[in-house]
Amino acid sequence: MNTNTDGSSPTRVSTLAPKEGGGFPNPGLPPHTPRQTDISKPAEKRAERLVAFMFLLSVVGTVIFIAAYFLVTPLDTNIFAEEGTPRALWWSNLVTGLGLAIAVFFIGAAAVHWAKTLMPDEEWVEERHDVRGSDETRKAAAEMITSGLAETGIGRRPVMVTAMVAALAALPIAVLAPLSTLGPLPGNKLHHTFWGQNPGQRLARDHDGTPIKLSDVAMNSIFHVMPEGLTDETPHRLEERAKAAAVIVRIDPKLAKNDESMSMGVEGVLAFSKICTHVGCPVALFEQQTHHMLCPCHQSTFDVTDGAKVIFGPAHRPLPQLPIEVDAEGYLVAPGDFTEPIGPSFWNIHKDK
Ligand code: FES
Repeated sequence: MNTNTDGSSPTRVSTLAPKEGGGFPNPGLPPHTPRQTDISKPAEKRAERLVAFMFLLSVVGTVIFIAAYFLVTPLDTNIFAEEGTPRALWWSNLVTGLGLAIAVFFIGAAAVHWAKTLMPDEEWVEERHDVRGSDETRKAAAEMITSGLAETGIGRRPVMVTAMVAALAALPIAVLAPLSTLGPLPGNKLHHTFWGQNPGQRLARDHDGTPIKLSDVAMNSIFHVMPEGLTDETPHRLEERAKAAAVIVRIDPKLAKNDESMSMGVEGVLAFSKICTHVGCPVALFEQQTHHMLCPCHQSTFDVTDGAKVIFGPAHRPLPQLPIEVDAEGYLVAPGDFTEPIGPSFWNIHKDK
């Protein structure tokens, strides 16, 4: 039974007198019409069973989603279509989408039906009161909450409540299921490139693949390079190209601010990873006057005279350098791998090398 916060019982209002000084009379509330479930025990039970049934349908929807996610994939031949075809993708989207839609829809439908048929629906007028009530008022409020909970009948409807808990607990599994199929972790693949797998390779021009001699590299010029041994037949060619991409530039050794970096080059010719340490765009712009390399994506700027340190932009670490030498025929070669893992920085970049 509801009570006012001052402890008195709320009243259903029919008609109140108009305010002193005029105004409209309070029209009051229309007479309350009890619902079928208020006056008939069988109707109440039926509504309760229907709510429980809808929650269970939601569980079924979740199961359909999970089963479809693994069994009706576009990557394998399934009962509906050949693997890898647009038709297989269409079926996969349709069945997983339907499963999720059923799961979400029936939770909502059950909640609405519960509220409309089983929750108390009488309207009550409660007089205004001070913001903080007296101790008696607060005690009465606590009792009101307790009696309100009792009126919802949660304690008397264990099947329905259990079904609701099952539906709400099952739905998050549908969210977790796709996480289990994310690709494998990269491990330490980013710590090694094709340069390190085959030490002593010549530096070759990107695309035409011709090796580069030290004498080919004019002052303040830039070359985009790849390992000479990385050909169309190389396994995982595109991945290897993405990791091995490098640039070489030639600067006047007198401008050098970083002896360690200069010692990894030859007569002012220095090689750096072309992959930006911010989020991996190709750093392909070289300013001849300032000797800065620029990433076109977010304008990170690297000072070639100072070991490609970041002097502007969101990147956090220098471009990894590729130590180079000259072989007996005058060609530039890389005796090993980059000095650091290439690509965007990540939290364990200095571990597990
Ligand atoms: S990717 Fe290079 S600055 Fe963002």
